Amino acid sequence: MARSSRGLSDKAQRHDPAYLRAKKENYAGRAVYKLQELDQKFRLFKRGRSVLDLGCWPGSWLQYVVERVGEETTIVGVDIKEVEVELPSFVQTFVGDVYKLKPEGFRKRFGEFDVVISDMAPNTTGEVVGDVFRSEELFLRALEIASGTLRTGGHFAAKVFQGERFPELIEAVKANFSEAKSFHTKNTRSGSRERYIVGRGLRASVAKARVSDEG
Ligand SMILES: C[S@@+](CC[C@H](N)C(=O)[O-])C[C@H]1O[C@@H](n2cnc3c(N)ncnc32)[C@H](O)[C@@H]1O
Repeated sequence: MARSSRGLSDKAQRHDPAYLRAKKENYAGRAVYKLQELDQKFRLFKRGRSVLDLGCWPGSWLQYVVERVGEETTIVGVDIKEVEVELPSFVQTFVGDVYKLKPEGFRKRFGEFDVVISDMAPNTTGEVVGDVFRSEELFLRALEIASGTLRTGGHFAAKVFQGERFPELIEAVKANFSEAKSFHTKNTRSGSRERYIVGRGLRASVAKARVSDEG
């Protein structure tokens, strides 16, 4: 069956309420409603907050972030695919692999971020163990980038496919943030292993440690 880039057949998409709603509301993807849920639950965004979005293609999270934080701040998106949706000119998007991104370089260029979000997912193969492992690795990389670029007190939210290491991942977030919680959005398709882990309040010790590491 022909599949779209977001993993649903064209026919299934035509009957998917979130897909149809996103289309009607001019968002680049249905994932926007997951970020909205995360924001409503964990109060991630406010006017003026600077945001780094990892795995930002096709761009619906960036569209939502623009609405929530306004223009007087920094919004940066990174993905291996080029974002084509129209975004205001102050939004900066980069084509790149997060495994090659240098957190300290980003921090020097854009300043510390208030919020780092990641909706990154590997290309799934259907082989669960491998798909989950690659998703966990992307999650850990997002956490590493967040710990290297957020200000003290900043927030982090990232997707992961739930597997055996899930409790360990929550512990890893707890080690870096004052509060760590997992969340299953209503807009996640039933039967999916997709979860989000949210860290609120980057610990001062994490921000301090990176400064001393860099001399
Ligand atoms: C579900 S999509 C993100 C949807 C996006 N949040 C939106 O609302 O439009 C996941 C994205 O993660 C990206 N991705 C996967 N591995 C990556 C990597 N190593 N570096 C950067 N982006 C990656 C994929 O290219 C894909 O576009």
